[in-house]
Amino acid sequence: MSEEASPRLREVMSVLVRHLHAAIKEIEPTHEEWFAAVRFLTETGQMCSDWRQEYILLSDILGVSMLVDAINHRRPSGATPNTILGPFYVANAPQYPNGGNICLDGKGEPMVVEGRVTDIDGKPVPNAKLEVWQTNDDGFYDVQQKSIQPDSNLRGVFTSDSEGRYWFKSVKPRHYPIPSDGPVGKLLGAMGRHPNRAAHLHFIVTAPGFDPVITHIFTPDCPYLPEDAVFGVKPELIAEFQKLDDPEAAKRVGFSSPFWSVSWDFRLASSSETISATR
Ligand code: BEZ
Ligand code: FE
Repeated sequence: MSEEASPRLREVMSVLVRHLHAAIKEIEPTHEEWFAAVRFLTETGQMCSDWRQEYILLSDILGVSMLVDAINHRRPSGATPNTILGPFYVANAPQYPNGGNICLDGKGEPMVVEGRVTDIDGKPVPNAKLEVWQTNDDGFYDVQQKSIQPDSNLRGVFTSDSEGRYWFKSVKPRHYPIPSDGPVGKLLGAMGRHPNRAAHLHFIVTAPGFDPVITHIFTPDCPYLPEDAVFGVKPELIAEFQKLDDPEAAKRVGFSSPFWSVSWDFRLASSSETISATR
């Protein structure tokens, strides 16, 4: 490499070539295997479009997305950790007052989620923005079923109140498969891996002065918790889901009994308390 190449590029390329050559020496691929890899990478690129990023999906199923995130969000203990963003986040989702119901298709088991946004010492963070999204009870995001689900089904934006509290209505999430109709899905199948994600709700929680949290809440009863297809599960993100058979409580929230109740606090680390890769 030329002396004029950026020092970072020289570092990245020399590490990559060193490890790539070590892998090739260990694997000893045939010419056909080398060409199958070229074909796989070509098909992965050809699968990409404005709304489909097959290379990020590849990074996800290899655990690389979670590793890059962990390197860049080293938070103090007690802070809510990040997990994978996924491809189905949509900016500028509808805003709801606290108590709003994001389930617009009426499918699934009703659920109330409530909790607080605090700093790592437990002090309330008012006016935090909570963006939430999840699949419907058939296991699809609204953007995957544009003319089938109502627009913005199961996504919304809430704001924490003066005591850092938030609450909303939805339905209990279920497990679902990542998009597996492309080369990444074929690779998973060839490896004998399933494409399923453990049941979760996505959140992005932001407040001025705090490191934005891109995270999930997982249900504790999902069989895919130990084998999430994209390695997104962290034990600190598994919530308690209580099934309440209480007609009075159900009436208060406008549901019929039984319904699911989830209590979940987000603890934000300040931007200065979070260590990222420094370049
Ligand atoms: C998701 O949770 O929405 C997701 C994450 C990674 C890949 C595909 C989907
Ligand atoms: Fe998801």
